[in-house]
Amino acid sequence: MKEKGVRELPKVELHLHLEGAAPPAFIRGLAAEKKEDISGIFDEQGGYAWRDFWHFLKVYEAATSVLRSPEDYHRLTLAVLEESAASGVVYGETFLSPDFCGGRDPGAWREYLHAIREAADQAERQMGITLRGIVTCIRHFGPEKARETAICAAETAGDWLVGFGIAGDETVGAPKDFAWSFDCAREAGLRLTAHAGEWGGPESVRAALTDLNPERIGHGVRAIEDLALVDELAERGTVLEVCPGSNVSLGLYRDFRAHPIAELDRRGVKVTISTDDPPFFHTTMAREYQELHRAFDWDEGQFGRIARQSLDAAFCDADTKARIA
Ligand code: ADE
Ligand code: ZN
Repeated sequence: MKEKGVRELPKVELHLHLEGAAPPAFIRGLAAEKKEDISGIFDEQGGYAWRDFWHFLKVYEAATSVLRSPEDYHRLTLAVLEESAASGVVYGETFLSPDFCGGRDPGAWREYLHAIREAADQAERQMGITLRGIVTCIRHFGPEKARETAICAAETAGDWLVGFGIAGDETVGAPKDFAWSFDCAREAGLRLTAHAGEWGGPESVRAALTDLNPERIGHGVRAIEDLALVDELAERGTVLEVCPGSNVSLGLYRDFRAHPIAELDRRGVKVTISTDDPPFFHTTMAREYQELHRAFDWDEGQFGRIARQSLDAAFCDADTKARIA
């Protein structure tokens, strides 16, 4: 498959952190406008510089520190969607955190959400890409902040804000600490996803399933270390938001050929393909497809099947899906 052909395949991306998708030049520009020196987070080529996952989280938060107003998020959303559309993404869902958008103040959060949604509507008109939002709490910020986050999410749940999830450092705390937040979001009609099985093993995926009962798992790839769990995921129809380039870049797997996505797919698990934090991991949706084609010889038929599986697993309503399909 040619690079150009890959770019043109219609793609559905379910796992993308909005701040994590910020082009480094965009963040540098904002820092200059605000006279903030965050030059330490960039490498000599102007990309983001990080050493490991935990340092990545710090660099992510430093980059996010220059996003300070709804207007900044409006500009960010447009910049991110331009990149996604250029990769052939037709539908995407993005993680949004009230922690970064107004410090979990419900009034401020509404203003940020409004600005992001306006930018998404503009991108839909101009570029034909559809976006929906998933509020995410951050595990290493603790359960109390997660509760405030869930309340922000519940108050703004609707046709655009469609989901609730948890991201951050999976090695801190336990899923059960966040059960109240997930129940609150579920009662508000939000669909649920949880990061697990990235820095934690199969037991971490099991705990997320038992204590939070999400429909989708962010990453989940380390389930492959326990084949009984893989069978259970397949039987339950749990969808994995797999981000192969992120996992390879962060050192979880040596390269794409060593990544378990193809094995999980063969064993009947519903896998989907996403980028996570594309500029941090030097990836795009087009590059993910290209690398998967190289590693596993996946072709248009396979990518088409996974795109349909992804749209099925999307949290938007049926009318929106019908318009995109
Ligand atoms: N936040 C942004 N990217 C993340 C990742 N890969 N894992 C957990 N939390 C994140
Ligand atoms: Zn993620």
